[in-house]
Amino acid sequence: MTDEPHHEPVLTAEVLHYLAPDRGGLFVDCTVGLGGHARAILEAGASRLIGCDRDAEALAVAAARLAPWGDRVELVHADYRDLDAVLDARGVATIEGALVDLGVSSLQLEAPGRGFSFQRDEPLDMRMYRGAGATLAERLREVEAGELADVIFQYGEERFSRRIARAIVEAGRRAPIATTGELAAIVRRAVPHRGRPRIDPATRTFQALRIWVNGELDRLDRFLGTTARRLQSGGRFAAITFHSLEDRIVKHTFRALAHDEPAVVRILTKKPVVPGETEVAANPRARSAKLRAVERI
Ligand SMILES: C[S@@+](CC[C@H](N)C(=O)[O-])C[C@H]1O[C@@H](n2cnc3c(N)ncnc32)[C@H](O)[C@@H]1O
Repeated sequence: MTDEPHHEPVLTAEVLHYLAPDRGGLFVDCTVGLGGHARAILEAGASRLIGCDRDAEALAVAAARLAPWGDRVELVHADYRDLDAVLDARGVATIEGALVDLGVSSLQLEAPGRGFSFQRDEPLDMRMYRGAGATLAERLREVEAGELADVIFQYGEERFSRRIARAIVEAGRRAPIATTGELAAIVRRAVPHRGRPRIDPATRTFQALRIWVNGELDRLDRFLGTTARRLQSGGRFAAITFHSLEDRIVKHTFRALAHDEPAVVRILTKKPVVPGETEVAANPRARSAKLRAVERI
C-alpha cells in the first residue's frame, strides 16, 4: 500500500472544516475505508475514533495506517447501518462527530479479483463484504430482464437500460457471464453510440449493478437519522456521496431532520460542497463527490 494520489480521501479540508475535530471528543468514521479521513480527523485533534467498514481488507489497511494512535482508535468490522448497536455495545451514548463517505474505495476498485472494475477481466463478484450474499455472477443467473432493466435505469440513470438488460439476460442464457470483461463487452455492444463516447458505455451499468449487489441505498435514510440523533448538542455529521441518488437521500433526510418538531439538526451546507478544480485534477475520483453537513441542535 502506497500513498499514491488516488488513494487520497476526497474533500478532506472540507470534512475537517465541518466536523471541527479540534473540539476533541469521540468521532465515528462510519466508512473508514483506507483510513485517510480518519487519520486527518485524528491529526486535527479528535480524542478518540471508532472506524467501521464492512470490507475486512480495507480495515486491515486502515489498522496499519492508524496504528500510531494506538488505543485511541477502534476499528470495527461492521455495516454502518448497525452503528447504533456498535455504540451501544461500547456503552457510548453520544458522539461528537460522524463522517460517512459512501461508495467504493480505491482499494476495492484497484485490488485484483474483486470484480468492481471493467479495466481488467476478473470474476464477476462486486461484493464489498465477501463473507455473505450472492456475487454479481450468481445474481445475473437468476434475474429477469424487467427487474434488471429497472436496476440499471434507477441506479445507473442509464437510458438504454432495457436494451442492456435484454442483452445481458440473452447472453447469460447462451452461457453464464463469468467475468467483468465479458459483461462490459455485452453492455458496450448493446448501447448505440456515435464517435468516441465521453465515458465508457459500461460505466453506468457497472455502477448500477454494484449498488444492487451491495444494497447500497437500503436503509440509508434511517442510518442518517439515527446517527444524527446520536450527536451531542453542537456535534457535527458530514456525508460524502458520489452519485445523485445518494445525494438526494442525504439532502432529503437532512432537510427532514432540520424541519422536525423539535428540529434535530441545523443544516450547515445550503448547497452541497464540491471539490475544486485542483482536487479533481489530482484525483479524478473526486469529480462527482458532494458533501453535506449538519449540526445537532
Ligand atoms: C469511499 S470509501 C471510504 C474511504 C475512506 N473515507 C478513506 O479515507 O479511506 C467507502 C468505504 O465504505 C465502505 N462501505 C460501503 N458500504 C458500507 C456499509 N454499508 N457499511 C460499512 N462500510 C461500508 C466500503 O467498504 C469502503 O471501504
